Amino acid sequence: MQTLKVELGDRSYPIFIGQGLLDRGVMAPYITGKQVLIVTNETIAPLYLSRLTATLDKQFNVDVVVLPDGEQYKNLEQINTIFDALLDKRHNRTTTLIALGGGVIGDMTGFAAACYQRGVSFIQVPTTLLSQVDSSVGGKTGVNHPLGKNMIGAFHQPQCVVIDTDVLNTLPEAELSAGMSEVIKYGLIYDEAFLCYLEDHIDGLMGLQSDLLEQAIFRSCEIKAEVVAQDEREGGIRALLNLGHTFGHAIETDQGYGAWLHGEAVGAGTMMAADLSCRLGYITPSDVERIQNILEAANLPITPPESMSAERFVELMTVDKKVIDGSIRLVLLKAVGDAIVTSDFSPEKLQETLQAGRDLGNCC
Ligand SMILES: NC(=O)c1ccc[n+]([C@@H]2O[C@H](COP(=O)([O-])OP(=O)(O)OC[C@H]3O[C@@H](n4cnc5c(N)ncnc54)[C@H](O)[C@@H]3O)[C@@H](O)[C@H]2O)c1
Ligand SMILES: [Zn+2]
Repeated sequence: MQTLKVELGDRSYPIFIGQGLLDRGVMAPYITGKQVLIVTNETIAPLYLSRLTATLDKQFNVDVVVLPDGEQYKNLEQINTIFDALLDKRHNRTTTLIALGGGVIGDMTGFAAACYQRGVSFIQVPTTLLSQVDSSVGGKTGVNHPLGKNMIGAFHQPQCVVIDTDVLNTLPEAELSAGMSEVIKYGLIYDEAFLCYLEDHIDGLMGLQSDLLEQAIFRSCEIKAEVVAQDEREGGIRALLNLGHTFGHAIETDQGYGAWLHGEAVGAGTMMAADLSCRLGYITPSDVERIQNILEAANLPITPPESMSAERFVELMTVDKKVIDGSIRLVLLKAVGDAIVTSDFSPEKLQETLQAGRDLGNCC
């Protein structure tokens, strides 16, 4: 087992990463009261719930809420279901909520914990690669509103995060690829040596080799934790984590949520950011080819949907949350392993990227 500390002053917390951690009771010391509410969903409960309850049952009064599975249920109604359970079972201010699931369950459980009695403790047990390397680190919690994704939420840090790499064995392949696009992102924005590691081991990683996964998850969490520690509330450097995301969000919205997984849209979006970075003279065509190769090896899409016009991209990108004063701000690559956030690029170059279609990547 490896341990990583997220440094946030009196809100600092550890992330434990290793095989078989669900059964090893590593979270027990982080549960301060007697009461525990596990929040999970209908897919994950039959796979992992009994193993988690078995390790906690002897020491704590454990209650469980099983929510329906899916991003469409990430809403205030389900938060109310969590509150109903907490009140019905008379949970007090010392209770601890445990999120057992992917990012949807993690974001909702964290938000319920941030609100219940003005804030109670919670622990993350992320079960998708994406939630292990991204959503469980950084303290953003929340739900969707019919008028916007993640529009209702709060910052609330967990007591600890427990990442059991074995749970990835049951994850659908497309979800593994989607998570890998965020892992690749960390290499691209922050650490070229880590990108080399991913390039050397991508087949083993996609084949779920535990030791490789543990390393890749550790370094991903470490990079996200470093970035978040410098900029907890996203005033500056945290925005670099959005590489490929402004393009990706446009794809997700255009295709309808759920048609493309978030990480798949980020994969194509990352290629678009790389293409534009090349057109602006920041990175070379061989850098772009390198990025394309690793995305393809992770079975990610490398071009946007053919049906999306340049006009449609611009329309959707200008309503993205990240737009300030009407100008599109993008994360671009200055080099492989070094990113910037900028709105200082010529609109013509952006148009070239948006119109590239199947030629995306053949940029200079
Ligand atoms: N808080 C943040 O900083 C942050 C960052 C990125 C994403 N997010 C949020 O995370 C969510 C996406 O998370 P996600 O990609 O984990 O999706 P998800 O939670 O919907 O999980 C994907 C699917 O995999 C299933 N699943 C989960 N673990 C499994 C396992 N071990 N075996 C088999 N099936 C399993 C789930 O039931 C679900 O059907 C979005 O709502 C997004 O907004 C939040
Ligand atoms: Zn993302």
